Amino acid sequence: MSKQKRRILVTSALPYANGAIHLGHMLEYIQTDIWARFQRAQGHECYFAWADDAHGTPIMLRAQSEGIAPEELIDRMNTEHQQDFLDFGLKFDNYATTHGEANRECVETIYKRLEDGGYVERRTISQFYDEQKGMFLPDRFIRGTCPKCKTEDQYGDSCESCGSTYSPTDLIDPHSAISGTAPVMRDSEHYFVRLSEFEDRLHSWMTSGVLQPEVVNKMQEWFNDGLRDWDISRDEPYFGFKIPGTDDKYFYVWVDAPVGYMASFKELADRTGLDFDEWWKPDTDTELYNFIGKDIVYFHTLFWPAMLMGADFRWPTAVYAHGFLTVDGSKMSKSRGTFIRARTYLDHLNPDYLRYYFCARLGAGMADIDLSLDDFVSRVNSDMVGKVVNIASRCAGFIQRGSNGQLAEELPEPGLYQQFLDQREHIASDFEQRNYQSAIRRIMALADEGNRYINEHKPWQLNKQEGQQQTVQAICTQGINLFRVLMTYLAPVVPFTAVSAAEFLGVDLDQWSELDQPMLNVSIQSFKPLMTRVDPLKIKSMIEDSKENLQSTGKATVPKLDLADEITIEEFLKVDLRIAKIINAQQVPEADKLLELTLDIGGETRKVFAGIKSAYEPSDLIGRHTVMVANLKPRKMRFGVSQGMVLAAGPGGSDLYILGPDQGAVPGMRVT
Ligand code: MSP
Ligand code: ZN
Repeated sequence: MSKQKRRILVTSALPYANGAIHLGHMLEYIQTDIWARFQRAQGHECYFAWADDAHGTPIMLRAQSEGIAPEELIDRMNTEHQQDFLDFGLKFDNYATTHGEANRECVETIYKRLEDGGYVERRTISQFYDEQKGMFLPDRFIRGTCPKCKTEDQYGDSCESCGSTYSPTDLIDPHSAISGTAPVMRDSEHYFVRLSEFEDRLHSWMTSGVLQPEVVNKMQEWFNDGLRDWDISRDEPYFGFKIPGTDDKYFYVWVDAPVGYMASFKELADRTGLDFDEWWKPDTDTELYNFIGKDIVYFHTLFWPAMLMGADFRWPTAVYAHGFLTVDGSKMSKSRGTFIRARTYLDHLNPDYLRYYFCARLGAGMADIDLSLDDFVSRVNSDMVGKVVNIASRCAGFIQRGSNGQLAEELPEPGLYQQFLDQREHIASDFEQRNYQSAIRRIMALADEGNRYINEHKPWQLNKQEGQQQTVQAICTQGINLFRVLMTYLAPVVPFTAVSAAEFLGVDLDQWSELDQPMLNVSIQSFKPLMTRVDPLKIKSMIEDSKENLQSTGKATVPKLDLADEITIEEFLKVDLRIAKIINAQQVPEADKLLELTLDIGGETRKVFAGIKSAYEPSDLIGRHTVMVANLKPRKMRFGVSQGMVLAAGPGGSDLYILGPDQGAVPGMRVT
C-alpha cells in the first residue's frame, strides 16, 4: 500500500467549562478519536487538538454561585474533563483552554484582520438590562410570558410550549432569571461582523462537495433568509477576552470558542516545533476537520469559516456533524438515570465497550444515535467477546501448551488470510467516510469467517490424536493471524483491548500496512482474557448512580402556589378536559421543541402541537393515554393549527411528564 502521506488536524467541539462530561459528549469525542486513530494507522500525520470552552455568562454565574473566581472553576473543570477523556482512551495531542494566552493571541489577530478588512461595524442597540445585578441579560436569562400562546415562564428567545421564536422585548411581563426583577431597556454600542460580505466565499466552500447534504440544505435556507450581521461583542461584566481598544467590551464566547481549535494547535506547534503557518495559510495542503454536533452547525458553517476567510487563514476541509445521543429511545433524563456522566460510566464499565457500541451505531449522517442498553450488552458480548476475542482464546492454549508458544512457519490457508486483507481497502474507506457501522459489519463478517475456519478444523479434536501436533499448530497459527488482522482493524475503536492484544501477540497493531506480512515462526505470550462479558448488573448500578432525585435537589423547579390566583368551580368547569389516546406522534422538522400529536378523544381526532420534544421520542408516545384540554380555542402556529393542549407536568426541557389516567379510562371520557 503506497499512499501519499497526508497531514491532518482533527478537532471536536469544545465542551463548556461549567459542567461535567456526559455520554452525549462522548459520542462525539469517541467518533473523533476513532477517526484520528484510524488516520494514524494508515501512516498519515494526524493530530487531534481541542480545548475547554471557558468563556461566557453561564460560566461567570456558576463561578459566582460557588463563590470562586471563574479561573478557579475553569481550571478544575479542565483537569476533570481531561481525566475523563484519558480514561476513555482518547488520544489527543493537545488540550487547551479558550482562556489561554495562545487563544488570546489568535483571537486578537483574527479580529484585527477583520477590522482592517472593513468587516466590523459598530452600532448602538438597546437591550434588556438587570439593574439589580448590574448587567445586560442574554436572551436565555430573561423569562416571561409567551406573546403568542401566553404560556408563562418562557425563555427570552423562544417558547417551549408553542415553539414560536421572538425577541425578548416581545415577552409579556419580562423578568430577569438572575434577580427576578423587571429589566429595563438600555443602550450600548455593539460590534458586528458583516456576514453577508462572505456570502460568495461561503457559498463556494459549501458547494465544493465537502459538507454533508443535510448541512448544505440548512445553509441554503440561511442564505435564502439572508445572512444577518453577527453581534460579536458583549458588555461588562462578562468572562472573556476584552476587545482590543475598548475598556468594557468583550468578545462574545462564540468568537473565541472556534478559534480555540487554532489556538490549541498553536500550543502544540510551539511545543513540538510544527510549523503553524504551514498549517493555517490559505493555500496549504494540510487538512482540517471539525467534528461537531448537529446543534452547532450554524456557528461552524457560517461564523467560523467567515472568520477564517476574513482573516486570510485556511478554511476547514470539512465540518462533520453528528446526531444526538438518546438512551433507550428517549432524551437523556436525570430522573430516569439515563443522563449518564462519563465518570459514572467509567466507575462501572470498560470504556472499550462504549467505544465499540458507538462505533457499531455511527454512520456518516446526522441521525440521532440510540444507546439501547439491552442492545449494548448483547452487541458487545456477541461481537467483541463472542466473535473476535474468541478466536484468540480458542487458539492460544494449543500453541502455548503444544508448541511452546511458537507459531508455525507457514499459513495452512494463505487464501483465507488474503481474503481478510482484501477487505482492508473497503474497511478503510468506510472509516474515512465515517460509515463506521459499515466498517464494523465487514469486520464482524470476517470474524464469522475466522470462527467458521476453526469450527471446521476442530483443533480440540486433533489435539487428542497422536501425531497431529503440527496440524494443530498450523490451524492455530492461521487463527492467531486472522485474529491479528481483526484486532488491527479494530485498534482505533477499542484501544485498551488492542494494547492487551498487542502484548499477547508480541507485535504492534497500529499500522495497517504491516498486515502484508503474516506472523510466522515467532512466539506469542500466554493468553489472558482480553475482554470480559458486559455484566448487566453493572449497567443497573450505573443507572442507579445516575439518578438524581429532582425532588430534593431541584426545589427551585417547583413553583410556589399563589392563592391570589384562585378560581371558582364554575370557572374550572369551563375547561373541558378529556381522556385522549395518542394514535400518532411525529417530529415537526422545523420546530425545536414541538411534537405533532394525533389524539383520539372518542370517535373524534385532534391534532395538537405539544412542547414535549425534549422529553419524549415520538415512538414512545404512540398508544398511550393522556389528558387534553379539548375546548381550547384552536391556535394557528407556524406549522399548522393546534386543536387543543395535552397536560404535562414539570419545569420543561427533558424534565417534563405527560399526565396519564388510571387503567380503565377510555378516550373521550370527561375529566372532572
Ligand atoms: N462549547 C460549545 C462548542 C464550542 S465549539 C467551538 C458547546 N459545548 S457543549 O458542551 O454543549 O457540547 C459539546 C459538543 O457535544 C457539541 O458538539 C454538542 O453537539 C455535543 N453534544 C452535547 N450533547 C450531546 C448529545 N446528547 N448527543 C450528542 N452530542 C452532544 O456546544
Ligand atoms: Zn408560546
